[in-house]
Amino acid sequence: YLGHEGLPRKNSHGIELTDPIAAAPLLQTVANSDSMMWSGGPIVDGVSGSADLPVVNPATGALVGYTANASAEQIQQAFASAAESQRSWDRLGGDARAKILDKVADLYEQHSDELVAMICREAGRTLNDGISEVREAVDFCRYYANGGRKHFSTPTTLPGPTGESNELSLCGRGVFVCISPWNFPLAIFTGQVVAALAAGNGVLAKPAEQTPLIAARAIQLMHEAGVPKQVLHLITGTGAAIGQPLLDDPRVAGVAFTGSTETAKHINRQLAEKDGPIVPLIAETGGQNVMIVDSTALPEQVVDDVIQSAFLSAGQRCSALRILCVQDVIADNLLNMLKGACEELTLGDPAKLETDIGPVIDEKALGLLEAHRERMAVEANPLFAFDTAKQPKDGTFFGPQVVEIKDFDLLKREVFGPFLHVVRFKAEELEDVIHRINATGYGLTFGLHSRIEGRAGAIFKRVDAGNCYVNRDMVGAVVGVNPFGGMGLSGTGPKAGGPHYLFRFGNEKTKTVNT
Ligand code: SER
Repeated sequence: YLGHEGLPRKNSHGIELTDPIAAAPLLQTVANSDSMMWSGGPIVDGVSGSADLPVVNPATGALVGYTANASAEQIQQAFASAAESQRSWDRLGGDARAKILDKVADLYEQHSDELVAMICREAGRTLNDGISEVREAVDFCRYYANGGRKHFSTPTTLPGPTGESNELSLCGRGVFVCISPWNFPLAIFTGQVVAALAAGNGVLAKPAEQTPLIAARAIQLMHEAGVPKQVLHLITGTGAAIGQPLLDDPRVAGVAFTGSTETAKHINRQLAEKDGPIVPLIAETGGQNVMIVDSTALPEQVVDDVIQSAFLSAGQRCSALRILCVQDVIADNLLNMLKGACEELTLGDPAKLETDIGPVIDEKALGLLEAHRERMAVEANPLFAFDTAKQPKDGTFFGPQVVEIKDFDLLKREVFGPFLHVVRFKAEELEDVIHRINATGYGLTFGLHSRIEGRAGAIFKRVDAGNCYVNRDMVGAVVGVNPFGGMGLSGTGPKAGGPHYLFRFGNEKTKTVNT
């Protein structure tokens, strides 16, 4: 996609944290944010509602602000306002909307330190993760702005073999409901909302109940950039409290959802059964992501990439590595090296530069991981457990775990945290491993470490996974570079940060004129 002056789009810059001068302003902002209290209730027509439900920092349990469950009246008002203003937003055209969304990107960059601090305090993400996340959010804004410019501005002229003139146009569908998760509380939130806006839709944005504060700040910046307050609303609350009124409304024209497979199926059923039009669902869900390491792999590189893929971000990425399949002849050596590297990891305050792994998001997530560890202690062979004496006493921390399992069948569901399952395979069992990967039904990310020529191409064709990574880690898809999203139980597509994403947010209209 080209930008508004016909220039190629560039991905956003980061901060070099090892350079003390470059890092100082961010570190100061993060330190100052320690005592800050943010507000993140519903924002309807630009008016912030009152908020009295506590939001806590998962690293400390300390209060960081307040949110609220949007009321039925607020949701009704948001739908009415978005439905009424959507047509004029749509008529504005892709180019004019793109200028506003480019401004959102500029404002995010200007407020980058503040946004990183919020991500760190509210979601417990490390500074590195926070920086990457702001960059990704900025990239989504510019990428979808350019997509809107290219596809939603002027109609495409088609052949008129019988003397008619034919044109194909794309326009917004109406009001989109965007439901986003806590693990990328700014990037995924922004990606969904900006795509829906770029395509000419009104939006009701529903962030995860754990991370409404950063979402509220993002909405403020979007309004400041010029997105009309009647077009874009923030609807906060728990799924149980607001899911029904938000999804049952006949004005819902589309839903973008990122989260668990179970919730996506629940939403799909709810949309299918309600009155009104047939509503498309764009769902990005979980993964049972596998990496295959054969005997030709470079062990040092594998260890780095496994740590990055399975344990950083506390394993709380849908792309994260869950099952490591290692060829038996190198397994002992590789697993020893991996254990050594795991021992070097630092768990702690995500606001500190030396921290590798922050907390998991909340008590519920921690409880699920602890229950899985107990089950694996019986059904698997424990290989590594992070020393609990080296982790903070407060907060919801869970140290990396490695267990060896015999069969994928032991893992029916995604385990969302720093928990790695190892399977050994013999050279002649590679086909069977691929079969077992596909049999999980998930299809998000896949990794291969091999230096056998032609193996990557051959496996790529047979593995059902949306993102295949060879001889590198398998997380951190870059907008416009690694379009991201899966298949099967992992989602409906289209890929976020890819050239086809916006089309699913629009309606197509053909105009035929008898000239
Ligand atoms: N897009 C993220 C990644 O690639 C996951 O949501 O890690």
